[in-house]
Amino acid sequence: MKKYLVIGNPIEHSLSPKLHNYWFKKNNINANYDKKKIKKSEIQEVVSKIKDNKLDGLNVTVPFKSDVIPFLDELSEESRITQSVNTIYMHDKKLIGHNTDIKGFELSLMETQFELKNKSILILGAGGVVPSIIYALEKLGVSKIIISNRTKQKAENLKKNFSNINVVDWGDQPEFDMIINATSLGLSNEDNLGLNFNNIHKEKLFYDVIYNPKETNFLRTGKNLGCKVSNGRMMFIYQAFEAFKLWHKVQPEINEDLINFLDA
Ligand code: ATR
Repeated sequence: MKKYLVIGNPIEHSLSPKLHNYWFKKNNINANYDKKKIKKSEIQEVVSKIKDNKLDGLNVTVPFKSDVIPFLDELSEESRITQSVNTIYMHDKKLIGHNTDIKGFELSLMETQFELKNKSILILGAGGVVPSIIYALEKLGVSKIIISNRTKQKAENLKKNFSNINVVDWGDQPEFDMIINATSLGLSNEDNLGLNFNNIHKEKLFYDVIYNPKETNFLRTGKNLGCKVSNGRMMFIYQAFEAFKLWHKVQPEINEDLINFLDA
């Protein structure tokens, strides 16, 4: 039986095992997918299990997506530029790190049917997922990416790999067509970004990377303004979809049944 694992800290909330094990069953794949909370000092040991044939693949989540890099032999172009790895596998006796968050974000955007070409995007936050979001947005041909983060220096640091981004002060509200909450504010129902959207008109897209709760205060605000809204659920499903394809060379099905199963 093949074995897969997602590592992170915290990890209790992760729905990856539920999703991958569901797809194993549907596709008659003899495998098991588990989750493990680890410390940074344990990364090397876990990663080496793939080389020792004790594991067949790894997903990596917060906060280790950069920390795993020194233990890998090769990185995909996307992982190298974002310095972020969420999927690991063996190929030709080499440990490869890949980033499927980028494609996951991109495919989730396709579903919103929001036209992004030549649009202005405001990203709130500068944490681990933001380089993947910027990479995808640049590929999709947006005209402007503006980053606003409480700790401004962290946003400025992103310019090393993404020289075209613009950085504004936390609390500033430049014009945008799409706004993305990539902060951890919203995980609690009381969380509020404290922004004032009075001058916002319809036909904007409010996108929250958070998917639990399904509707954050940020998304509720967008909805009340008559804007399009999307949470991070489809990004989560599509990053798993891309990892599944890499590992098993099978395209798993995404449908209402699956979404209801994950919600249950
Ligand atoms: P990390 O920053 O370690 O990569 P993350 O969960 O990926 O962690 O990112 C958390 C994001 O939420 C950061 O952009 C963080 O802002 P700082 O860089 O200033 O820490 C943001 N964030 C968390 N709590 C916040 C708060 N109370 N107000 C504003 N932004 C907050």
